[in-house]
Amino acid sequence: MEKHSLAVNSHIILIGYMGCGKSSVAKYIANFSDLKHIDLDDYIVKREGRTISDIFNFSGELEFRKIEHICLIELLDSKEKLILSLGGGTPCYYDNMEFILNYTKNICFINTPNNILAVRLFKEKSKRPLLSLIDSENKMLEYVSKHLFERLTFYNKAPFKINSKEKNVSEISIEIIKMINL
Ligand code: S3P
Repeated sequence: MEKHSLAVNSHIILIGYMGCGKSSVAKYIANFSDLKHIDLDDYIVKREGRTISDIFNFSGELEFRKIEHICLIELLDSKEKLILSLGGGTPCYYDNMEFILNYTKNICFINTPNNILAVRLFKEKSKRPLLSLIDSENKMLEYVSKHLFERLTFYNKAPFKINSKEKNVSEISIEIIKMINL
């Protein structure tokens, strides 16, 4: 695909469960559009000077959610138009989803089947404090199925949604680019 210089007037935001590919897709779209990509977790790690796991382990999830909320607002307030990949839990705490919707309608929920997520996440569980103690792929599938179901109400508020089943990063990205008319 040809590169485009965009005159977008609001941020582009990717949401979805852990492991759905938000960051990789955001990088692809950023490269295509010349927009700056920021991953909310990376921003938190830089700002706090510690890993997400350290924040969870030493300060607790509640503190993480506060920091996440503050960082989200800082990024949404950016004058520069950004492509933001959020954490899987970001839309589900405080009034974050309403907040995001007030800034932009360019929000896409990447919906990935539970079984694909479970396989991916079991391999990468050490990076994710909520999943690190799950000790089999079956238990991961059970956890993901329940947890994702609980979060769907928030994710489904996104004006755009893509089913990522059997699609690679470039296919998902191109579909989003077309959908939000970049
Ligand atoms: C979380 C998702 C993670 C990270 C933290 C909590 C969640 O981000 O913010 O571990 O609650 O779903 P990714 O979705 O980028 O893995």
